[in-house]
Amino acid sequence: MEIKAVVDDIAKVKAGAIIVNFFEGMERLDGNIATIDKALDGAVSQLISQGEIKGKLNEITIIHSLGRLPADRVVVAGLGKKEELSLVRVRGVVAETCRLLRQKGTDNVATIAQGAGIAGISLENAAQAVTEGALLGLYSFRRHMTEEAEHGEIKQLLIVDSDKANLPLLERGSNKGMILAEATNLARDMVNEPANYMTPAYMAERAVKLAEAYGLKISVLEQNQMRELGMGALLGVAQGSRQQPKLIILNYRGGGSAEVDVALIGKGITFDSGGISIKPSEGMGEMKGDMAGGAAVMAAMGAIAQLKPKINVIAIIPATENLPGGNALKPGDILTAVNGKTIEIISTDAEGRLTLADALGYAKKLGAKSIVDVATLTGACRVALGDVYSGAFSNNQELVDKVIAAGGEAGELIWQMPMHEQYKEQNKSDVADIKNVGGKYGGAITAAQFLAEFAGDIPWVHLDIAGTSMSEKERTYLVKGATGVPVRTLVNLALSLAK
Ligand code: BES
Ligand code: ZN
Ligand code: ZN
Repeated sequence: MEIKAVVDDIAKVKAGAIIVNFFEGMERLDGNIATIDKALDGAVSQLISQGEIKGKLNEITIIHSLGRLPADRVVVAGLGKKEELSLVRVRGVVAETCRLLRQKGTDNVATIAQGAGIAGISLENAAQAVTEGALLGLYSFRRHMTEEAEHGEIKQLLIVDSDKANLPLLERGSNKGMILAEATNLARDMVNEPANYMTPAYMAERAVKLAEAYGLKISVLEQNQMRELGMGALLGVAQGSRQQPKLIILNYRGGGSAEVDVALIGKGITFDSGGISIKPSEGMGEMKGDMAGGAAVMAAMGAIAQLKPKINVIAIIPATENLPGGNALKPGDILTAVNGKTIEIISTDAEGRLTLADALGYAKKLGAKSIVDVATLTGACRVALGDVYSGAFSNNQELVDKVIAAGGEAGELIWQMPMHEQYKEQNKSDVADIKNVGGKYGGAITAAQFLAEFAGDIPWVHLDIAGTSMSEKERTYLVKGATGVPVRTLVNLALSLAK
């Protein structure tokens, strides 16, 4: 879809549909909607007085213009109460409207920069939210379907403003929205891809393509290099699969110094069967998405490379399958991680923390000044927070505050979880330095405490996205399947750390 900002009067635009807004409790029509109402011989005001248009959030009314306007349809999109308006709501209503218009067969749409000038929303941010809403809401994953979709695609979206002076702002906002949404959709594509395609090697290939496209440095470590480095934990997970593990390292240098300002680490289990501690078969297919953290980190790097903040960022993705092959890791085994710590395996299904232990150790070796890791780490986090909030765990309040704020800006909700040291007790092993399962209770926290041992005293945030990486249903700008969380948070974070 092409998205373009143009200077025009929305009522004069020739398109399959033009979108304007109505707010709950609005007394009278003014501006664009008043002009349009007049052209439609009062159809809008009539629908309002009849109670069909109330302006409730996500209420969508389609009025056919029947030649009274250059556009075929006028869409009145409800934005709820003016004082409650937010960018999240704008993204959502645009997504819902675009999906409905696509279903109706509309192939070009024009909209105002919805929400601009209301509740403190700038024109630039409104244009960004409109762009994100359209691109995220219209996302679909049809790569493996041989038949065409019933609906066509919206080919063009115009963001219209009558004031020429506003054009650069609209363009800037829309361009940023495009970069962020396309990165999110890239992560979604990777997560939705089945595990017979999305192998560690293919993930590395995708990373190489990304690096080439956006001018990032890349290296991919192979098994023998991991062995030389002493990454016993990552190798332990990988040994049950015939697929070779890959350690993907992407490097963005926007800052002046040689320092690594932040390392983004993403869990890259391309399929998690549980290993010898095998998972129940029901729902196991969902575990093709156990590389969502890695995909998010990769996609965020692509966006960061395009937005060029003055900061140095590396991404580290330990990619492997977790399968119960003849050489697989067993409960009771003891592994040695890259930092020399020994780990007793209680469950081979707690594999994410093993791969992340080595990635954290490696980030420290590379001299990272701060670390954010993203992982579909625990079912316990999903039980605790559902599919609404990702969990945040940290050893540094300042950094976690920044991560949460970056999420807020993106509309990706993040809830900070406790890290009291008492939880560490649960990870104590009788035979090694630490064990990989801390018992039945507080599983998301004990998993984070495990990681904390490998992060040491470097400012570090762990995001558990087990509940938020996939959506069971369509909701506003999310569609069923991969959500692409927390790509936009990570990009916002890099931008904010660069300030
Ligand atoms: N990949 C899973 C966590 C997960 C569960 C992600 C549901 C997405 C949805 C992880 O590797 C895992 O299996 N964790 C175990 C840990 C347990 C063995 C301590 C879990 O949560 O059950
Ligand atoms: Zn697992
Ligand atoms: Zn897993």
